[in-house]
Amino acid sequence: MIEPIIVSAPSNIALIKYMGKIEGSGNKPTNASLSYTLENLRTYIRLTAIESLQDQWKPFVREDLQPIDLSEKGQQRFLKHFQNLKAKWGVEQSFLIESANNFASDCGLASSASSFAALTLAAAQAFQKIRPQEWGKDMKVLSELSRQGSGSSCRSLFGPWALWKEEYAQPMNLPVVDLHHMVVIVEDSKKTVSSSEAHKLVTTSPRFTGRVERAELRLKDLSQALQFEDWHMARQIVWDEFIDMHKLFETSQPPFSYMTEGSRQVLKDCDDFWRKWQDGPLVTMDAGANVHMLFRFEQKKSFETYKEHFSKSFPVMAFEAIKS
Ligand code: DP6
Repeated sequence: MIEPIIVSAPSNIALIKYMGKIEGSGNKPTNASLSYTLENLRTYIRLTAIESLQDQWKPFVREDLQPIDLSEKGQQRFLKHFQNLKAKWGVEQSFLIESANNFASDCGLASSASSFAALTLAAAQAFQKIRPQEWGKDMKVLSELSRQGSGSSCRSLFGPWALWKEEYAQPMNLPVVDLHHMVVIVEDSKKTVSSSEAHKLVTTSPRFTGRVERAELRLKDLSQALQFEDWHMARQIVWDEFIDMHKLFETSQPPFSYMTEGSRQVLKDCDDFWRKWQDGPLVTMDAGANVHMLFRFEQKKSFETYKEHFSKSFPVMAFEAIKS
């Protein structure tokens, strides 16, 4: 029997979004995406070999962690991913999977990226001891496997930047690093439309025509802007991109929306601040109401100002970067 192992993986925030997938492809995206890895938001997994006919899941209880509250459906999806990984390695041993986040799971932040990435990495580590495979440590292969569990998780295996095209993600080398990250928690209740459902619904929007081209063009422009450290350009592209995604939601059949009054207020303040100071963070939103911001390392003062401002109205999670 192998010793229990503990592995963690970070979440990530996409600046060019994965929205729309090729039906029946194991989460292959209709367009490439680019993300920044959120090292401070992590899922921890403990894997223990057990004498049982079936794998089991339960929350990981540890003082410094917040146990995940997974629905029955969520547990089945997680266990299914684990079983696919076992089949790939040819492993038959049963395991107890325990998982927890280092952030509250009821704060409305997506944890599927970090959860599935952590599960893939933990399984790879355990299975390589039982049945080593020559591809078992290849990050491209692991990214591809993680993608099949949850698309966005394939980017969480790399950092600080990850570019996901078709089968797997890869690290992307950009001079912009050590970003301060802030999330304004506008809404902490569970979403009514899951991101998996959103991927299907957006294809019914008339605006989905041309979406792939728009995303690909923005990816090219954003990569260039970040390469040349053109922050103004980067900010505009990132803003246009999440607005584009939210307009897809709002024009789907049936339409749906994650934006709340709170989100709109935060976005308006960000816009006003940008106009006033001609600088500020990259602002983006996922399939949810919360607003993410990324500040350059030297924008520490502005990071503090925004934090103080938004904390007056909403809970704010702020993570100061450490110089790498
Ligand atoms: C809006 O990775 O959650 O966050 O592949 O069905 O698990 P599944 O979807 P998921 O979609 C994330 C969508 C997004 C944008 C992004 O992260 O790129």
